[in-house]
Amino acid sequence: MSRIVYVNGDYLPEEEAKVSIFDRGFLFADGVYEVTSVLGGKLIDFEGHKIRLQRSLDELDMPVPDAMDELLEIHRALVEKNEITDGLIYLQITRGAPADRDFAFPAADVKPTLVLFTQSKPGLAESPQAKVGIKVISIEDIRWGRRDIKTVQLLYPSMGKMMAKKAGADDAWMVEDGLVTEGSSNNAYIVKGNKIITRHLGTEILHGITRAAVLRFAKEAQMEVEERGFSIDEAKAADEAFITSASTFVMPVVNVDDVAIGTGTPGPIAARLREIYLDEMRKAAI
Ligand code: PDD
Repeated sequence: MSRIVYVNGDYLPEEEAKVSIFDRGFLFADGVYEVTSVLGGKLIDFEGHKIRLQRSLDELDMPVPDAMDELLEIHRALVEKNEITDGLIYLQITRGAPADRDFAFPAADVKPTLVLFTQSKPGLAESPQAKVGIKVISIEDIRWGRRDIKTVQLLYPSMGKMMAKKAGADDAWMVEDGLVTEGSSNNAYIVKGNKIITRHLGTEILHGITRAAVLRFAKEAQMEVEERGFSIDEAKAADEAFITSASTFVMPVVNVDDVAIGTGTPGPIAARLREIYLDEMRKAAI
């Protein structure tokens, strides 16, 4: 069965879906996106992703698509049409396709492009990787200065993943001025004693929707949270480490730059947070 995708108001088989070669997402990476997970056929933290999407559009003066108020219905329709039980929904908005290539933003009559597609991932929450943890390497963070906006400028994160792969690792943590900003597509954490340490919010990192929920649950469970930058040396000496994102939830990190973290196996705090996060988010899924 061919996947049904959404493009500017139409639900189409993926082979029939088209976007102009003049689309600014294609020519200038002038676009924003969101990734929302689906568990048991329901959307996880849809509201959080919608609020961040609106913020990304506002920060870039990007026009809002006509269908902005129908996003929930569109997500649900794609889940249904593609019979998604567990998986991800990818949404992208670009500044549309003017008649020609021009650095200046197009006139107001050029409508933004809105695209959504699903990725089926049966058993997404039961990932075997969560039982063994992942390995990360550190790389320099050379991305642009507005990482709080979720843009489609993902070349460097892609390169980071390839550097990790080449080094026999699973992902890369990016370091700026000696401190970890975040993972290539996730937020980064260490645990020392009973304290969870993660980079404070700012323009240097994406304000993860999973991060916000996990920190809330950690505080509710009386865990101590400190929001500040940490170095790779501090990570190597930590008891535990983990990442969070909409696609990995809470994923233990057991090795940083070839140094085992703690016992070199997933730690109890990461495991507990993963369990609480999945339980609570499944209950609140819509
Ligand atoms: N990435 N930091 C970066 C750079 C990210 O790309 C992501 C998400 C996160 C975590 O944000 P959230 O918890 O809202 O997913 C942090 C998505 C999953 C992706 O690009 O596939």
